[in-house]
Amino acid sequence: MSILTDTYTMSNGVTIPKVGFGTWQISAGETAYNAVSAALKAGYRHIDTAAAYRNEASVGKAVRDSGIPRKDIFVTSKLPAEAKSYAAAQAAIEHSMQELDVDYLDLYLIHAPWPWAELGADYKKENIEAWRAMEDFYKSGRVRAIGISNFNVADQENIYNNCTIKPMALQLQYYIGYTEDANVACAQKNGLLVEGFSPLATGFIIGNKDIESVAKHYGVSVAQVAIRYVLQKGILPLPKAVNPTHIEANTKLDFTISDDDMAFLDTLKDTAPGEDHNEY
Ligand SMILES: NC(=O)c1ccc[n+]([C@@H]2O[C@H](COP(=O)([O-])OP(=O)(O)OC[C@H]3O[C@@H](n4cnc5c(N)ncnc54)[C@H](OP(=O)(O)O)[C@@H]3O)[C@@H](O)[C@H]2O)c1
Repeated sequence: MSILTDTYTMSNGVTIPKVGFGTWQISAGETAYNAVSAALKAGYRHIDTAAAYRNEASVGKAVRDSGIPRKDIFVTSKLPAEAKSYAAAQAAIEHSMQELDVDYLDLYLIHAPWPWAELGADYKKENIEAWRAMEDFYKSGRVRAIGISNFNVADQENIYNNCTIKPMALQLQYYIGYTEDANVACAQKNGLLVEGFSPLATGFIIGNKDIESVAKHYGVSVAQVAIRYVLQKGILPLPKAVNPTHIEANTKLDFTISDDDMAFLDTLKDTAPGEDHNEY
């Protein structure tokens, strides 16, 4: 079994392929369609998009055109961070479903606990409302799992303490030297699967000399070590690429970073200084 089809199991029993293909900053139209098509051809069976990426329609089309049975592809999208009322969330869900044009979604996440223009603001009351819409979406059977993204401990606990249906997944930024440990621990204690976005620090990790020294031990690239590191932490990596060579290379993860090398990588401070963080 390839690592791309190997799965984790979420708290509700739904399985999710251990590596997802990220689609942030991939332009809608031919670029997104070709990238997702190439990823599916290379063996990825898990695609991560969001309404905010404005490419849901191209992602959905690539999934439908792939010839791969729908049940064999795991599709995630995200509720816009600005949808902070029941009505706004419900409308956004319908819009995503229309854009994607798939019968059902596998995972839908609240993109962030605050609108992007107000990073760190307190939207706890509004998130409870938005979560109610997420729960109703889940109960309708049109999405197999629901979750949250960029939620810190306080924002997570707000949902855990006020929900009827507990989130099944948390997506947050996770790469060598930047691992949001408190947020991960809180989610895992509550039974959530943790997904790591920007495993390559949006590309800024690539020239890192310390990681390069580890990559040499296995005859692989910095990107491959960075993705493999996330997997060995039990977190689900979501690497993004448009370059077909990158798409293909990032599927070659069949090596094991030794305990010593993992310990060394753990000592590295933020390996991509200058990379933006959403942690508040
Ligand atoms: N929930 C959230 O708020 C949130 C936020 C950020 C990201 N995400 C998700 O996580 C995904 C990944 O994060 P990200 O988009 O920040 O990017 P990333 O995966 O950390 O890095 C992507 C960058 O690395 C380059 N790259 C990929 N493979 C490479 C390789 N083998 N060698 C050299 N360079 C390589 C890509 O280049 P090319 O594209 O030119 O191939 C691109 O510039 C997103 O696409 C999205 O799905 C979620």
